[in-house]
Amino acid sequence: MSLRQFISSRIFLRSFNIVKDNAVLRWREVAALFGLHDDVYYNPLHKKIQKPVHAILIGAGHRGTIYASYASKYPKELKIVGVADVNPQRRKKTATEHKIPVGHCFTDWKDVFALEKFADAVIIATPDYLHTQPCLAALDAGYDILLEKPIAPTEEECRIILQKAKDTNRIVGVCHVLRYSPYFRELKEVLDAGLIGDIISVQHMEPIEHVHMSHSYVRGKWKSSKKSTPIILAKSCHDTDIIRWLVNSPVHDVHCFGNLRWFTNINAPKGSTERCTDGCKVESSCPYSALQIYYRDHKRLYVFDLPEDKRKWDELILQQLKTTDYGRCVYRMDNDQPDHLTVNILFENGVTSAFSMEAHVSYEGRRTRIMGSKGDIIGDMETFVLTDFKTRKQIKWKLKTDAHGGGDLSLVKDWVQAVAQQNKNLLSSTIEVSVESHLIAFGAERSRLNRTIEDIRI
Ligand SMILES: NC(=O)c1ccc[n+]([C@@H]2O[C@H](COP(=O)([O-])OP(=O)(O)OC[C@H]3O[C@@H](n4cnc5c(N)ncnc54)[C@H](O)[C@@H]3O)[C@@H](O)[C@H]2O)c1
Repeated sequence: MSLRQFISSRIFLRSFNIVKDNAVLRWREVAALFGLHDDVYYNPLHKKIQKPVHAILIGAGHRGTIYASYASKYPKELKIVGVADVNPQRRKKTATEHKIPVGHCFTDWKDVFALEKFADAVIIATPDYLHTQPCLAALDAGYDILLEKPIAPTEEECRIILQKAKDTNRIVGVCHVLRYSPYFRELKEVLDAGLIGDIISVQHMEPIEHVHMSHSYVRGKWKSSKKSTPIILAKSCHDTDIIRWLVNSPVHDVHCFGNLRWFTNINAPKGSTERCTDGCKVESSCPYSALQIYYRDHKRLYVFDLPEDKRKWDELILQQLKTTDYGRCVYRMDNDQPDHLTVNILFENGVTSAFSMEAHVSYEGRRTRIMGSKGDIIGDMETFVLTDFKTRKQIKWKLKTDAHGGGDLSLVKDWVQAVAQQNKNLLSSTIEVSVESHLIAFGAERSRLNRTIEDIRI
């Protein structure tokens, strides 16, 4: 009897009867009730690593530093033996942290490949527009890869990388960090075990939170869809991947509506100025005041490379607000990313999904509703509630985690295992499926711009 059949039988129903209404359970308790894995990260194929995987970090910024921190925590599994970054401060910091010899510190990614192969793998965490070239060069040089999402900014480049990965037969792990959050892992376990029967449809919402939107997609690195990538790819390729992963079926069609409704010149309040530091008359009442966000509240400062000595911060932050995009008025930027969009997806197995990305919200944390043939699930990345249609009994599961649900280092762990054992199956996603999840996003953007329904074919 399969796990699915086992759970569908009376044992499943009996389990429901013993759950008290409104009880909030930890995953271990939920798992014990339904006979599921109590440790969703347990993988019997993981082995003790004999020799640490040697990796070169290309792009030692915000994300690259997080992935490289795995080496500091688990030095017997991963060692960072080279770094490339155009920013000398970041390069130096990584070199010091990981004791990288001067000869293996590079100003540009290209310099890495001018040398003979000197590591097992590379971690590519450069900006979106700089993924394809280092990835292809690394595959040609025989490296395995951990590649930040998005794989590449265009569909054509994604397909070229897919083909090269197949031709060279190397491991390319894409950073689908949400798949590694306990929340989505446990949700997936529940769905795969058939606890709500067959999936009929999925509603999924990504609330970006309005200040986060202003920071990254109005003022920040992704404000231009042309210079970086469309927001549906930059921000929501995590979601197109998660939805496809939960539904577990290839995609058939995609449709999207969306536009930039609020962060435009026309909405600039009277009395506002080019920069928040220019004596703006409405600064004190504006929810997007850069002085409030960065200078007074000290939020999202990681973009400024501030020194450890906090005494200098006020002066340095003010200087950044006077000279960089982070100090500019959100209504007077050269941004073009939509601040709201809705995507409809039809899967080959008939499941439909409605996804919406929303900037004008006061909260973060994905919201997901999954409708099944025997029950449904309502979740918000901290809690999910499963209701059985027959018994009306509910089970609530709760766990508080960080924005990525604690997935970053679990992802690195699987990738390190995959490289050490040279076994692609240890990754949560194949490069084919990762590319397909990107095709949903590219299709959605074409649909939004051309008012079409897009056929998705890998
Ligand atoms: N998985 C996720 O959840 C997630 C979250 C945020 C960002 N990202 C992605 O991660 C990537 C990096 O984003 P980030 O926020 O860390 O950006 P970042 O700007 O903090 O880091 C990028 C680094 O690349 C370096 N760089 C630029 N040009 C280079 C070159 N020619 N050679 C070597 N290094 C170079 C920059 O100096 C910078 O330090 C982006 O593609 C982004 O979309 C993924």
